[in-house]
Amino acid sequence: MRHETIEKRLNVMMVLIVVAISIGGLVELVPLMFSADATEPDENILPYSALRLAGRDVYISEGCYNCHSQMIRPFRSETERYGPYTTAGETVYDRPFQFGSKRTGPDLARVGGRYSDAWQRLHLMDPRALVPESNMPAYKWLAEKMVDPELTTSKMRTLKFLGHPYSDEEIAAAAAAVTGKTEMDALIAYLQELGTNRRNRR
Ligand code: HEC
Repeated sequence: MRHETIEKRLNVMMVLIVVAISIGGLVELVPLMFSADATEPDENILPYSALRLAGRDVYISEGCYNCHSQMIRPFRSETERYGPYTTAGETVYDRPFQFGSKRTGPDLARVGGRYSDAWQRLHLMDPRALVPESNMPAYKWLAEKMVDPELTTSKMRTLKFLGHPYSDEEIAAAAAAVTGKTEMDALIAYLQELGTNRRNRR
């Protein structure tokens, strides 16, 4: 009887559905917010260097995440192909994280060091020169666009404000580290580091 009243009143039912789903969500989410596994960096995980930070932003602005995930699921088919599965603790310095949900291309979470810098450069300039069947776009303009040193410095300052453990020396050295570098250089530096700190762990 009571059930019938609820089912006949759409508004009441909507509110109750939201309440029911929220409880389920909170039970899953809230413990994670306080668990060290999810909020503390794993061993060997450091915030991005100035050049890699700039490269990460190129990755985001070019939309690489539309075709590439950076999250290896804990299944054998994934770990055999890509390497150790992704943990929350290795992504604490990713704001926002780049898990992605679409794999038109392969996962990139452990791609660092898999190819040489020269391979990465050529692949970004002309993917089909290396992989004839590739449908990845070419990103030639990145070789001409320069990284903005001031912007990189202010990004690091902001991240420090948000809790990333950058030292004042690192921030002071940031502009010099990216001066004269192209967005291509920065993106390659970023890619070449992805997952390298976890490569040998399983
Ligand atoms: C339209 C989808 C698409 C977009 C957008 C895209 N890629 Fe790809 N990517 C692919 C495909 C498909 C492959 C596999 C074929 C190949 O190697 O070219 C690939 C391969 C790669 C590889 C080699 C991975 C491996 O393990 O062999 C890297 C590195 C890579 N992409 C980086 C990038 C970066 C960086 C960007 C953004 C600047 C980007 N991709 C944007 C589709 C895409």
